[in-house]
Amino acid sequence: MKKAFITGITGQDGSYLSRFLLSKGYEVHGMVRRTSLINTSRIDDIFYNTEFKDCFFLHHGDMLDMISINSLIKKIQPDEIYNLAAQSHVGVSFSQPDYTANIDGLGTLRVLEAVKQNDLASHTKIYQASTSELFGLTQETPQTENTPFYPRSPYGVAKMYAYWITVNYREAYNMFACNGILFNHESPVRGETFVTRKITRGLARIFYGLDRGPLSIGNLNAMRDWGHAKDYVEMQWLMLQQNMPKDYVIATGKQHSIRDFITWACNDLGIDVEFSGQGLDEIGVIKSIKEDNRFLSIGDTIIKVSKKYFRPTEVDSLLGDASKAKKDLGWEPKLTAREMCTEMIEADLKESKFNANK
Ligand code: NAP
Ligand code: GDD
Repeated sequence: MKKAFITGITGQDGSYLSRFLLSKGYEVHGMVRRTSLINTSRIDDIFYNTEFKDCFFLHHGDMLDMISINSLIKKIQPDEIYNLAAQSHVGVSFSQPDYTANIDGLGTLRVLEAVKQNDLASHTKIYQASTSELFGLTQETPQTENTPFYPRSPYGVAKMYAYWITVNYREAYNMFACNGILFNHESPVRGETFVTRKITRGLARIFYGLDRGPLSIGNLNAMRDWGHAKDYVEMQWLMLQQNMPKDYVIATGKQHSIRDFITWACNDLGIDVEFSGQGLDEIGVIKSIKEDNRFLSIGDTIIKVSKKYFRPTEVDSLLGDASKAKKDLGWEPKLTAREMCTEMIEADLKESKFNANK
């Protein structure tokens, strides 16, 4: 039975990847940091499922703590490591740059070094969660594995260190370590402050009267290449099943604006939204609404723009070209951003309805 060690197992990708690896017959070990409130809600259904009691294990540890990382890797002797743990919020990285650099940059070094120190360099394969944020102020469109990096946030810069230290350990110590340069990917368990989930959850809550609108949003013009986390974790695994370690861009090759995503989410709620105004004065107003809703009416402002959610330096547009992944690994995304939006809205409506009836 192959053993996988996942840092960041409690996050969006960690929860999908755990399910995926268990379905492939892996023994899965995850590192969980100590928090005052339990942070395992995304994987509790696995943890408490007796079917997985002999193949799913959680351990305390932290990306800031070499002792825990080193001793876990020594104990588990994993065949594969998926280094997913990160302070992954770009906006937050501007207010916590030192913390972000330490977890996202040096944390990656700690994982690589622990593999080396435990004489696992020729045994353990390592996946590093790299990001399209490396492209930042994009130097060409679409972005490929050869596009020059130009990160635009402390998060992006920390991930650039992680990218290169992964390449360096691969070359210096002949380790099977590779970077997945993943474009944005979302799901119903996406963190609640990333824009897609903020929109689906926020609108669902307004729909059921749990919050009062309008929903405050930042840059509506930003363009993203959104895929589904479920498709993207399969790719993380595929990268480690190759004979040679290589870095891959993972993307859908289609991009949409934040405004488009809001329009889809509203349409899924039976709402036709009309945007007017410019910049900070732009608003989204309900033009028509299918269902009789006692909290919303035609003419209500449902979206407003708030300066608070703009970043000091923005990544305006990301669009990936995953041709290399398609050619080498036969990988293609199955789910579209539009389908994913509907799945997210349905899940958030269910949750809001439940909370509204409490
Ligand atoms: P996420 O939902 O924010 O999950 C991050 C995970 O890292 C959580 O399990 C979190 O634990 C853990 N973590 C944070 N700080 C830690 C620390 N100091 N020690 C140990 N664990 C820590 O992120 P995601 O969307 O699943 O993304 C997974 C990885 O892919 C991240 O590295 C992210 O930067 C990268 N990435 C994501 C995307 C995307 O669009 N989702 C795209 C490209 C790259 P808690 O649950 O305790 O917070
Ligand atoms: N979070 C957020 N909240 N973003 C907003 C908002 C808002 O209210 N309004 C507009 N945006 C814009 C952001 O300025 C950005 O241009 C875009 O929406 C997407 O923001 P996020 O969903 O926070 O994601 P991100 O692109 O910054 O970063 C995500 O994707 C990266 C891959 O490109 C994260 O998952 C990173 O960890 C990941 O590396």
